[in-house]
Amino acid sequence: MSADPLLLAALAVRENAHAPFSKFKVGAAVEDDTGRIHTGCNVENATYGLTVCAERIAIFKAISEGARKFRRVAVAADTDVLTPPCGACRQILWEFCGDVEITLVNLRGQIETWSLKALFPKPFDASFI
Ligand code: THU
Repeated sequence: MSADPLLLAALAVRENAHAPFSKFKVGAAVEDDTGRIHTGCNVENATYGLTVCAERIAIFKAISEGARKFRRVAVAADTDVLTPPCGACRQILWEFCGDVEITLVNLRGQIETWSLKALFPKPFDASFI
């Protein structure tokens, strides 16, 4: 298993996931430009549609703590094909992190690193408005 604190944080916070409907637990961790790690897990809701993914919770927690620039993102889930951020989270990650490095990890320590630009090649953002 990697000793990278960002990956360990994503794996640890995954345990806090509130996923009674899907049983699919996800953890996310973002490193800001001071080196601080902000974490999030998915939080589901009985109406399903109000569910919030781990990635968005991590970013929104970080923003609300005053962080504004981010260096890296990690996403942890228990899948053999490593779980990437959903489309909505790619949009949010793009707006707050730009072309950030995203490392996907599973419980067996398998890792893949992607640039957000590769996952989200033609984004809409505030530069169009
Ligand atoms: N989920 C995340 O938290 N992040 C992802 O990248 C993919 C999906 C959550 C949402 C829902 O609670 C569960 O996983 C199943 O989709």
